[in-house]
Amino acid sequence: MQTPSGHPVESTSAKRLVVLASGGGSNLAALLAAHDDAAYGARVVGLVTDRPAAGALDLARDAGVASAVVALKDFDDRAAWNDGVLEAITVFQPDYVILAGFMRILAPGVVRKFEGRMINTHPALLPSFPGAHPVRDTLAHGVKVTGCTVHLVDDGVDTGPIVAQTAVPVLDTDDEPTLTERIKVAERALLVETVGRLAREGLHVTGRKASIGH
Ligand code: GAR
Repeated sequence: MQTPSGHPVESTSAKRLVVLASGGGSNLAALLAAHDDAAYGARVVGLVTDRPAAGALDLARDAGVASAVVALKDFDDRAAWNDGVLEAITVFQPDYVILAGFMRILAPGVVRKFEGRMINTHPALLPSFPGAHPVRDTLAHGVKVTGCTVHLVDDGVDTGPIVAQTAVPVLDTDDEPTLTERIKVAERALLVETVGRLAREGLHVTGRKASIGH
């Protein structure tokens, strides 16, 4: 049996997603648009942000999703902030933690608590162009094909096992805003598809190889 969206009907309850975001939250919006379909298999139950002015907060509120602001400036040091983030995530009892434009590095102690269950989306074809300015770096390097990557989070910066990728051509006419926007269209689709599949089918990781459903 299938729903109108084509997903098989699930008998088990939806997996609990906690989204971490620092910015406007278009990826969060895409997940919120998907999660009302029970057959999607996953539901956003909480948002954690480090920025009190993050647009993602408005999206969560409008969707009736609880949120927590854990701003670095409210803590004595980074260790205490990491403890605060861990507590904020844990309160929501997530099955998966989704980093969707979360622009801070989490301490290994936080990452390890969610080993195999913490996912990041990055606007480049990793392992090329990790870090904070991937689209700028992509254009500066002159590559002809870029894209987006959904990967597991490990102790490094954008280094964890890759779960899914989509390629996006770089046009001669592109600048940072136009390429960013085209990547983000592909990224939203990839994130929604990948998170839904891993919620419904599970994820298996052997070394650097991550695969959904088998
Ligand atoms: C997304 O493109 C995400 O991949 C990127 O920030 C954007 C957030 O957009 N993350 C990184 O660059 C992390 N290195 P959004 O707030 O509209 O979802």
